[in-house]
Amino acid sequence: MDIYKLNFRIKWIIVLLGIIVIAGSLVYTDYLAKRLVERERKLIDLYAKALETAATQEPDANMAFLSEKIINANTSVPVILTDETGEPLSSKNIVLPGNVSKEKEDLFLKQQILLMAAQHEPISIEFYGMKNYVYYKDSEILTMLRYYPYIQLTAIVFLSLAGYVAFNYSKKAEQSKVWVGLAKETAHQLGTPLSSLFAIRDYFKEIEPFKSDPMTEELAKDVDRLNVITARFSQIGLEGKLTPENVANVIEENIDYLKSRTSSYVSYSMEDFTDGATAVMNISLMGWVIENICKNAIDAMDGRGSIHISILTVKNTICIDIKDSGKGIPNNKIKTIFKPGFTTKKRGWGLGLTLVKRIVEEYHGGKVYVLQSGIDKGTTFRIELKGVQST
Ligand SMILES: Nc1ncnc2c1ncn2[C@@H]1O[C@H](COP(=O)(O)OP(=O)(O)OP(=O)(O)O)[C@@H](O)[C@H]1O
Ligand SMILES: [Mg+2]
Repeated sequence: MDIYKLNFRIKWIIVLLGIIVIAGSLVYTDYLAKRLVERERKLIDLYAKALETAATQEPDANMAFLSEKIINANTSVPVILTDETGEPLSSKNIVLPGNVSKEKEDLFLKQQILLMAAQHEPISIEFYGMKNYVYYKDSEILTMLRYYPYIQLTAIVFLSLAGYVAFNYSKKAEQSKVWVGLAKETAHQLGTPLSSLFAIRDYFKEIEPFKSDPMTEELAKDVDRLNVITARFSQIGLEGKLTPENVANVIEENIDYLKSRTSSYVSYSMEDFTDGATAVMNISLMGWVIENICKNAIDAMDGRGSIHISILTVKNTICIDIKDSGKGIPNNKIKTIFKPGFTTKKRGWGLGLTLVKRIVEEYHGGKVYVLQSGIDKGTTFRIELKGVQST
């Protein structure tokens, strides 16, 4: 199965499992909270009755003992007893502000009564024909239980994000090591035979009959090409090798090379709207970028079509737009094409655009993306590079 499809499925399965766990936890905590609300309501009902009994019944040792027990049993639910007009008479399980006047304490209790009334309907009790009210609010445990799912949710989201970032970072670091290692090893391996080929080329160029043979010229071109490729590989992993270059010139050079190697049914054109903009770049690596994008464009055309390159400036950013007349990229694949191993070609490795992205973003601090694409309408890739102010 396609690795990206599999990855996509695994990601969705994990997200789905996460949602089920979170939803399950929310539902269960809500159920617990509802049960606790019911218990607290019953407790306060009993508490109110005990208050009523203690205040109004004829003194009976057993009843008085029982009522006191019930009243004392409430050690968690904050309650305030008020008279008919809502004036606080007494309170329980409420921490009153210390060292304040009676008025301030009353004010505090009245604020608490408002909070309590917003949470629960007060329970009315009768003291010798006079109505009193028992106001109460959720206990600390119940309040914590109500917030718990949200705290849990925040922690899960935060941990998942941190895990995702750490995993991605280590994955990227690992990929980077492999890339750099492979590229350096390739450059190293090519180095020795290349030196011999240089010597052979120079020898052929001086000695007859090779000197006048057109094959020698071709051989020289291929050796030079091999040299360019080796130079590209050796640049991977090196930092800070950027120099200010005329963008149009760099592109032109690469197009010239491509032109000589591609079918005459593919036309190339270039327009510079910048008046010779300069950008900091590594020519060797940027050539690789242009080549990879153009080669993909040619592959998308089935041999016949056009590639048009425009260079423009947007603020201080230089944009290189490479537009082809190929078959286009389906919308849902526009992001995937930059991932390593993604290819729709029989002989493709799916590495060209990954390399393009790494070179543009990591080596040049720029951006590369699909600016526009439509099925059978062609594709435009945009490369953004930091411009250099001309002096
Ligand atoms: N200009 C384009 N038009 C249409 N499809 C494109 C274009 N450029 C890239 N693609 C799609 O993106 C895929 C990935 O491109 P990439 O260059 O990374 O790999 P590849 O060309 O398939 O193989 P490789 O470059 O490693 O030989 C291609 O297989 C193709 O489906
Ligand atoms: Mg390619």
